[in-house]
Amino acid sequence: MECPKEPLESQCSLSEMDDFDLTRALDKPRLKIERKRSFDERSMSELSTGYSRHDLDMAHSPGSRSFVDTPLSYVRNSFEPHPMVAEAWEALRRSMVFFRGQPVGTIAAYDHASEEVLNYDQVFVRDFVPSALAFLMNGEPDIVKNFLLKTLQLQGWEKRVDRFKLGEGVMPASFKVLHDPVRKTDTIVADFGESAIGRVAPVDSGFWWIILLRAYTKSTGDLTLSETPECQRGIRLILSLCLSEGFDTFPTLLCADGCSMVDRRMGVYGYPIEIQALFFMALRSALSMLKHDEEGREFIEKIVKRLHALSFHMRNYFWLDFQQLNDIYRYKTEEYSHTAVNKFNVMPDSIPDWVFDFMPLRGGYFVGNVSPARMDFRWFSLGNCVAILSSLATPDQSMAIMDLLEHRWEELVGEMPLKICYPCIESHEWRIVTGCDPKNTRWSYHNGGSWPVLLWMLTAACIKTGRPQIARRAIDLIESRLHRDCWPEYYDGKLGRYVGKQARKYQTWSIAGYLVAKMMLEDPSHIGMISLEEDKQMKPVLKRSASWTC
Ligand code: GLC
Repeated sequence: MECPKEPLESQCSLSEMDDFDLTRALDKPRLKIERKRSFDERSMSELSTGYSRHDLDMAHSPGSRSFVDTPLSYVRNSFEPHPMVAEAWEALRRSMVFFRGQPVGTIAAYDHASEEVLNYDQVFVRDFVPSALAFLMNGEPDIVKNFLLKTLQLQGWEKRVDRFKLGEGVMPASFKVLHDPVRKTDTIVADFGESAIGRVAPVDSGFWWIILLRAYTKSTGDLTLSETPECQRGIRLILSLCLSEGFDTFPTLLCADGCSMVDRRMGVYGYPIEIQALFFMALRSALSMLKHDEEGREFIEKIVKRLHALSFHMRNYFWLDFQQLNDIYRYKTEEYSHTAVNKFNVMPDSIPDWVFDFMPLRGGYFVGNVSPARMDFRWFSLGNCVAILSSLATPDQSMAIMDLLEHRWEELVGEMPLKICYPCIESHEWRIVTGCDPKNTRWSYHNGGSWPVLLWMLTAACIKTGRPQIARRAIDLIESRLHRDCWPEYYDGKLGRYVGKQARKYQTWSIAGYLVAKMMLEDPSHIGMISLEEDKQMKPVLKRSASWTC
């Protein structure tokens, strides 16, 4: 596919605008300026005064269609959509995948210019989430329902890697629909990790599936799907993989490198923040959907206990701010017994130099990983945003994360939102940690690359914390480049200035992420689908940071 060379404004033909028929009514140049201004005033004053968190969680009234429909909402808010929006919708629809005539998902990338397809012609569970949210926000829930049911069926397959059988509840990383034009039949092949690089099963897929089921239910008000015995069983199977008792001494979930969005070796093994935050969110989402029947009750009890322990562990041991960094810096080591302060025997010498300069006096974040004698001090965007959305972060911690983002804008956002992690690893460390991976060289791909898809999570976190101006700044950056660069998968470089070395073009989740961010900012009540209120029973025991009370 050719990259458009003309200016944006000339790109939208009438047929492209079909999805936006109501916006066409606004097509009078003089009005355009006034409308734009009135939206800016409305959104900024309304949003920055902040909604109460309760309002945001509740505002998305189930079943309501009047404001989930994009064209209608544009009219209501009286502003003209950015021309990129129409193009994004068109590209998103082009990526739809059909199974026996029904839409069941979106492919990862529709990049015809690229010769290698690799596995980008598949429907990835994690990649479909922003597409699903875009469709839900636009009042088109069918594709989401079909996707949930199709993946539920795939969960029922027997899964093997060589001679080893995987747990029953594992959800696929991706699936592909094969069309046989002669026999006129459609079949599905799915990947549970048995053909993925490194042969790792996706731990995040099941969590995203539960989170999406809740989003569907919240958005449509249709309880009949989540209440079916099949969905209830699906939820229980996913959870039974994570809630079984064993050798664990921590409530966090132990996993292998490459089992989530970062699906190659990157030192993201053990207890990575991305998995812990998604685990927490999935547990809370499941709690709201599980029936209180005999089987359900058993799980509900386990979930409540786990949430309690997990939130304590994360809020205390994963949290890092100036004060906590100073405490770790002064830690004694080799402490035995219950009185130990340095419980995991972290060696102060293992604190990397960069973190001392990076840490502002005000602000904080959940570190990448905590395990015996190993703290990964890297910042990971997805885990921190999901921690805010799920209320794994306390309100003070959520504010501190946003403070950090503002303070370290150049490092974490730069010229293209948003760094997947910060900082990159290089030289000897890169050799050891990635196994010399040429795709994950410094400031590229998973190693400090910038991923536009993360914009929707940042926007949601901004709205939840009442700081939409931060999201607006990030969206402005995206709008200055993403379309011009043909919606790449990721950007490279310290500032995220260069289109990624091996980035796909027309990457679906870059497209959908942008749409979701726009729709949420325009109508913040959408956030109720993907955000959970603070649970007052899970208060933190320790309050460590000065920045929390500043
Ligand atoms: C890459 C990403 C992974 C994504 C897949 C499809 O492998 O690392 O997170 O799901 O591409 O876009």
